[in-house]
Amino acid sequence: MSFRSAGFRPAAFGSALALALALSTTAVMAQEAPAPVAAASAAAPAAAPASVAEAAVKPGDAAAGQAKAAVCGACHGMDGNSADAQYPKLAGQSEQYIVRQLTDFKSGQRQNPIMLGMATPLSVQDMHDLGAYFASQSSRPGVADQALVEQGETLFRQGDSTRGIPACMACHSIDGRGNPGAMYPQLAGQHAQYVEATLKAWHDGASWGTDTRSQIMPAIAAKLDARDIAALASYIEGLHPAESKPAAAATP
Ligand code: HEC
Ligand code: HEC
Repeated sequence: MSFRSAGFRPAAFGSALALALALSTTAVMAQEAPAPVAAASAAAPAAAPASVAEAAVKPGDAAAGQAKAAVCGACHGMDGNSADAQYPKLAGQSEQYIVRQLTDFKSGQRQNPIMLGMATPLSVQDMHDLGAYFASQSSRPGVADQALVEQGETLFRQGDSTRGIPACMACHSIDGRGNPGAMYPQLAGQHAQYVEATLKAWHDGASWGTDTRSQIMPAIAAKLDARDIAALASYIEGLHPAESKPAAAATP
């Protein structure tokens, strides 16, 4: 697919455009099941049953997903709140986003040897059930570093127009809950260590695929320096999704 090297433009318009493009390419790619770039040699089988499974796929069933998630718990936590900060929290993440990531790990678009192994045996239905289960759980936020919070909050809410950095909340929402329809992930409460490693990898040129959507974060991360990344990661870890506020703020 075409690689768009053009700089990042106004967030709302750019994201709508990227979404429209990404949705149309996703639909096409699901049909033609392209050979994975790097994992090509290992993963020949799949193609035939995929379209059959696609036709029969039902919306995710969280109860079925919970049983299937037993194997994921070792790293991601049984309820999706991983104890080890190198593994992303999945609790509260949307079903759509989880399905897309598992699909991309399986095809090798998003490259990670551990998750390639975990995603390979999963059917499309398994992915939906797992997604529905983790989406039904609540992310437990961590604590932001006070020394970094101001810089993190400013970047998250306003970006930095002088450096062409868009506000993160334009896509990930003000409370970091994300936008499931557009497959913008929830960030609220995510481990700072994972966020920092992910942003740094994008900064250094990694991407999670070749479609238009996969170019969004590398283009943004390229403009962030190490201090921006540390501040954003810390701020994100301390962000609470809005649903958890009523409990915490329990009307005086
Ligand atoms: C041995 C540890 C391990 C196990 C078991 C494991 N994962 Fe993962 N998972 C990882 C790691 C490491 C990453 C981060 C990969 C990266 O950096 O790109 C990850 C990332 C993910 C992501 C992407 C999350 C995001 O925020 O982008 C999803 C979704 C996911 N795993 C789902 C699952 C599911 C579902 C299972 C069970 C079927 C599972 N994982 C089992 C280690 C594991
Ligand atoms: C134009 C929309 C857009 C903007 C603005 C944006 N993001 Fe993202 N973000 C995405 C998309 C799309 C993904 C999923 C990546 C993919 O599919 O390749 C993502 C993923 C992420 C992830 C990975 C989450 C996970 O669970 O693995 C992090 C971290 C992140 N963004 C941080 C940020 C930060 C920090 C900013 C602000 C500096 C920002 N994003 C601004 C669209 C956006």
